[in-house]
Amino acid sequence: MSDGRALAREFLEQQRLLGGDWVVLPEGQATHGTPDTPGLRPGSVSPPDSSLTPGASPGQHRPPSTPGLRPGSVDAPEIPPGLSYDPPGGDLFSNDPVPQAGSLAAIAELVATCAKCRLCEARRHTVPGEGAADARLVVVGEGPGRVEDETGRPFVGPAGELLTKILAAIELPRERVFICNVVKCRPPENRVPQYDEIAACVPYLFRQIELVKPAVILAMGGTAAQTLLNTKQSLGALRNQVHRLRGIPVIVTYHPAALLRNPNWKKPTWDDVRIARRFIG
Ligand code: URA
Ligand code: SF4
Repeated sequence: MSDGRALAREFLEQQRLLGGDWVVLPEGQATHGTPDTPGLRPGSVSPPDSSLTPGASPGQHRPPSTPGLRPGSVDAPEIPPGLSYDPPGGDLFSNDPVPQAGSLAAIAELVATCAKCRLCEARRHTVPGEGAADARLVVVGEGPGRVEDETGRPFVGPAGELLTKILAAIELPRERVFICNVVKCRPPENRVPQYDEIAACVPYLFRQIELVKPAVILAMGGTAAQTLLNTKQSLGALRNQVHRLRGIPVIVTYHPAALLRNPNWKKPTWDDVRIARRFIG
């Protein structure tokens, strides 16, 4: 398939996952789905059809979804595709333990003694992340705050309480999600992590994502979005698109701490998380 056709195909697949009624045929041609799908109750919403994800059996289509019936379904406008980033993966012949860690617990163990950047100096606890090893959603924040540093757990301070509420609102209890940060140690005074600190820490994050293999990633705030997508573009420019990290959809939204300062961002955040929810089914 030519690059142009591959791009067009990816675009159509993203439209379909977001509730559009496009059908992606194996040959890469596109057509509209038929509205009279048998077996579908009027008004019911079908989960994203895994038969249409890459590598799955071709030739089927997903019926048009009906918006507004459950948290995961939104009457969202058409969303264009976004950035796609494929960071280098683990090299079997290297002796770096991080890309080869076999479990989330193994990552947490490596993080616990990590001194790869200056953030190790003032930390009380490392905060590797927590949640379900088979989570369909990975939430990525910036870095531990004060309460996180004291407890060793991610998103448990005021911003974390808001995140927990947001997740509950899309019917995803915290325990079913994997929640982590770009840097695993608290930056002094909660300053933004510096470029070299992020560079030192990000292999842990990529390995965590590789192990969990989520259906979707929610990047909360500019640091998470820019790190996951390897870009300097602003949060505003990155929202409202479906990006990809090694093929996994990445939805960018505001950081919950920012929402506490600016409640005007709650509505757009709610839209973003509901779009993310659609990828979970
Ligand atoms: N803010 C973050 O980015 N992460 C946390 O864990 C807590 C607050
Ligand atoms: Fe290691 Fe990351 Fe902590 Fe830096 S922030 S010391 S790289 S775990």
